[in-house]
Amino acid sequence: REKTVLLQGAMEEECACFLKHMKEPEETVIDGWHFWSGELCGRPVVVARTFIGMVNAAVSTVLGIRHFSPGAIINQGIAGAHGLDLEIGDIVLGTRVMNGASFQSEKLDRGQGSRWEGWKPLPLEIRGEMTRDNTFLSDPGLIAAARKAAASGSFRVVEGCISSADMWNREYDRIAFSHAAYGTMAEEMEGAAVCQVAAGYKIPVLSVRAISNNERKDGAYAPETADICARFVMAVLAEYGRI
Ligand code: 5AD
Repeated sequence: REKTVLLQGAMEEECACFLKHMKEPEETVIDGWHFWSGELCGRPVVVARTFIGMVNAAVSTVLGIRHFSPGAIINQGIAGAHGLDLEIGDIVLGTRVMNGASFQSEKLDRGQGSRWEGWKPLPLEIRGEMTRDNTFLSDPGLIAAARKAAASGSFRVVEGCISSADMWNREYDRIAFSHAAYGTMAEEMEGAAVCQVAAGYKIPVLSVRAISNNERKDGAYAPETADICARFVMAVLAEYGRI
């Protein structure tokens, strides 16, 4: 039997494209979080509206896992660019996902201010075990499917690290530093929380985002790029081996 894929979007426009392509999705509301079950690209899916931010995304992921027992999770939607060359509508395939707030600073004394260049990645705890650093890896099988979807040539796709935190960073230098030091290509506010929960349950996960803004350029915000990400995710679903 085919396992269900949990497809997550934080905002309405990050779920809308999936729901439009599903025949009569069945809505379930659990403790205020919304889920829609049905079929997409010939396979069972549950679309989850996680709401914005790390805690909301973590709660939605736990509820989704407990209620629907998905065989895979795809966290997707829009993100801000860290790579200078990224254009609005480009897809970032998050082979790695970093918790962009999980750092320990150097010990500095009064009057020394803040020196974010000296921050060291702070490991995260999953069921009593510490991770190696502040990053998680997307699942190789899901990455392989995404690479096949990218090979269609219908999307501009780059691979790299996606950073997540309850933060919208608009400082050119700090974005550029994160890109150079940690290889972050994009930032958003949910993916790392989802990866941390998925790791605890040993469920394969993929993080993928469309660029909706590049603060190192003009900072224009184009949330309608959510549809580009959703269409790419549907192409990934079509390529994903039956699990
Ligand atoms: N920084 C942080 N989050 C962003 N998002 C889009 N652009 C950015 C950005 N530059 C995403 C987040 C959140 C919503 C505001 O859009 O994931 O869900």
